[in-house]
Amino acid sequence: RVPTVGIDIGGTKVAAGVVDADGNITERLRTETPDKSKSPKVVEDTIVELVLDLADRHDVHAVGIGAAGFVDADRAKVLFAPHLSWRDEPLREALMERLRLPVIVDNDANAAAWAEWRFGAGRGEDHLVMITLGTGIGGAILQDGQLQRGKYGVAGEFGHMQVVPAGHRCPCGNRGCWEQYSSGNALVREARELAAAESPVAYGILDRVAGEIRDITGPLITEAARAGDPMAIELLQDVGQWLGVGIANLAAALDPSCFVIGGGVSAADDLLIGPAREAYRRTLTGRGFRPEARIVRAQLGNEAGLVGAADLARLVARRFRRAK
Ligand code: BGC
Ligand code: NA
Ligand code: ZN
Repeated sequence: RVPTVGIDIGGTKVAAGVVDADGNITERLRTETPDKSKSPKVVEDTIVELVLDLADRHDVHAVGIGAAGFVDADRAKVLFAPHLSWRDEPLREALMERLRLPVIVDNDANAAAWAEWRFGAGRGEDHLVMITLGTGIGGAILQDGQLQRGKYGVAGEFGHMQVVPAGHRCPCGNRGCWEQYSSGNALVREARELAAAESPVAYGILDRVAGEIRDITGPLITEAARAGDPMAIELLQDVGQWLGVGIANLAAALDPSCFVIGGGVSAADDLLIGPAREAYRRTLTGRGFRPEARIVRAQLGNEAGLVGAADLARLVARRFRRAK
């Protein structure tokens, strides 16, 4: 029952934590994701620093990385990451060498799905689909306790399904990707646009940031919405609606019993999930004539990724010890 470290590398934040066998975080650290323009080495350095810091106070046996990118079938390389500088990056090798510990690498949303299935909102679900709304949209399919990775490791990249022809540009290189309409980035982009246009509906938000448009963030919009700001509520509704339509499409393809919604934006709770459920109900094909999957909010919130990564690492560490 040894502790492992989980690290969640997203587009804006790196979250690290020591996690026990029951999924409890005994210590957490957080830092900014190094700028995308920096070399992949800088992200690697950040990870190593965090692990070494935690290892000072904990008997760490393995490290799990949940990375916001396309992880290959061997779970060793990050093939591509729209929001990070990694291209065909042998992350696992590099970290094992520097840390001298067993390391596993997985996609961040896969890790989150694993955590929710083991310890959170997805317990007991044999057909679970996870959707994380953060910088982008992360996705994962978990069937009978197995992550479905596709042939090459990159199944579940739901965020890059095209929902609007010729729509907003996505850092993946395409246009109109789902994550351009339903994510933290989408929320912030819309709020900043309204603010920049000096729309009267944006006055409430502008007040909160003393006119500094760049200071408008996802959490700030959620806070404003909670306080009753109509624009903030509407923007979350829009994101929620896009979420619901996307979920209906995923239900058409995958027919799970449960969709778990996580990531930073899920902190908005009913302000987001309510409109999502409504849009889902209005969009689902065969509605009224078929069983409908539940849509639930992640229980581990924004920490699911690091908890899942740590738990996946625990499985590997066990195998590693047996092999020795
Ligand atoms: C990436 C995914 C990642 C997701 C959430 C997407 O843009 O393509 O790999 O899981 O963002 O971080
Ligand atoms: Na995934
Ligand atoms: Zn895209």
